[in-house]
Amino acid sequence: MSDLYQTIANSSAGNRVFSAIKLPIPLQLERYSVGLNSFVAGDVLVGAAANSQLMAGVLGVLKTAPAASIHTLVGMPSESAIQKCSVSAGVNVANYSASREDKQRFKVLLLDASGISNTGELAVCKQFFQPVIRKLANCGRILVLGRPPEQCELDRRIAQRGLEGLVKSLGKEIGNGASANLVYVAEGAEHQLHSTLQFFLSPKSAYVSGQVVRVGAADFDVAPCDWEKPLAGKLALVTGAAQGIGMAIAETLARDGATVMVLDIPPMADKLAKLAARLDGVALEVDITAADAPAMISSAAQVQGGLDIIVHNAGITRDKTMAGMKDDFWNKVIDVNISSEERINARLLDDGSLKENGRIVCVSSISGIAGNMGQTNYATSKACVIGMVQGMAPELARKNITINAVAPGFIETQMTDAIPFAIREAGRRMNSMKQGGQPVDVAEAIGYFASPASQGVTGNVMRVCGQSLLGA
Ligand SMILES: NC(=O)c1ccc[n+]([C@@H]2O[C@H](COP(=O)([O-])OP(=O)(O)OC[C@H]3O[C@@H](n4cnc5c(N)ncnc54)[C@H](O)[C@@H]3O)[C@@H](O)[C@H]2O)c1
Repeated sequence: MSDLYQTIANSSAGNRVFSAIKLPIPLQLERYSVGLNSFVAGDVLVGAAANSQLMAGVLGVLKTAPAASIHTLVGMPSESAIQKCSVSAGVNVANYSASREDKQRFKVLLLDASGISNTGELAVCKQFFQPVIRKLANCGRILVLGRPPEQCELDRRIAQRGLEGLVKSLGKEIGNGASANLVYVAEGAEHQLHSTLQFFLSPKSAYVSGQVVRVGAADFDVAPCDWEKPLAGKLALVTGAAQGIGMAIAETLARDGATVMVLDIPPMADKLAKLAARLDGVALEVDITAADAPAMISSAAQVQGGLDIIVHNAGITRDKTMAGMKDDFWNKVIDVNISSEERINARLLDDGSLKENGRIVCVSSISGIAGNMGQTNYATSKACVIGMVQGMAPELARKNITINAVAPGFIETQMTDAIPFAIREAGRRMNSMKQGGQPVDVAEAIGYFASPASQGVTGNVMRVCGQSLLGA
């Protein structure tokens, strides 16, 4: 689906006119393409608060990005600690002193704020970001690392919670297609950051900003993520895969090495068969609301040796305000968007066709977070998805299965193309990126959750919305 405004704004004549009359210019976001052998290409500036403990893990991951060149800001309390970590990690970290005049641009500004133990120490955030914030490159990344506030004693808890406000505000200030996100890393998960850093620092997170993700300690050592084929040898089922976001998810998981089973309703059989053939996968014509759907999915999975990943993407809208809501509209939306997912999960978990160390990834919506006029049924169903993720995560952790959700904002699909022009334009621009996302942006986030290296990442709901103002 095309965004005419963005195309014109980025043409040379359009760019001059739009700049002159101060209209927003939505930058073409940098996205991942096969062959990009380094998850970060360019200069990375790292800094840390005193007593922070995550830098050894961070440098260990950055070492696997051949095109990254690492610097540390002179004058930060942790300068010598970072240099010590760099020696044990075997990476070169150059000193950098900021001056207004230098033309330095950083692709990444990364602050390890895990050591901040009270509100006074939050000053280190200003000390790190203020001199360099204008030196963030187009489509750059700000990443702040902290400790989960709920696991901290009171003074530290208050300060760590403050990082959310910092990051969300930075996301709104930086512009130029750049993003700002926060990762809370639990005690014991210091060396399990591979997939999380690769995702947030790379073009795979192009449309993810203002988000908070929690990484917990996995019960076993998590293998580092293979950047090219993280899902090699895995079997993944994607529901609602014949078009739109589901198709992009299937393509992305297949690109990452998974064998994909693509599922959709029988009327989509032709599209589904073509997709399965193109991805060398398996097509499943199933209506997920049918009484025998869980059994059919389970036996199809068992024929292939059991599922590693299930992505609950199929979803529908039947919009009406509550006053005019028909029974059929309400029931159908609840059944497709949540009840069928509950039934399928129950069956796959009961009979073991979702394997140990498996991944469940659900597609919610920012409507499920913010609510939306005319979408009481849809928003209820998508909020239920969030409830399911949060409710099932602790129980599934016993089988080392993770469950997470993505909550897309305005994504350029046939669904959003059908929205009347004025509402569509407002939806597209009301976010920090000033544009809609692409289906692949949702798919990349799902690929991150599905990665074997994301073992400690569970119970999260991550918006893929360019930091939409709705429900922010
Ligand atoms: N497009 C957006 O901006 C947006 C925003 C937020 C959330 N979402 C969510 O993302 C998901 C995909 O959305 P999309 O825009 O690609 O929609 P879409 O309508 O293009 O695709 C949905 C797919 O699900 C299939 N499907 C519907 N009912 C089914 C059933 N009973 N059994 C099996 N398959 C069924 C459809 O046939 C279709 O192929 C949905 O869950 C949607 O709610 C989309």
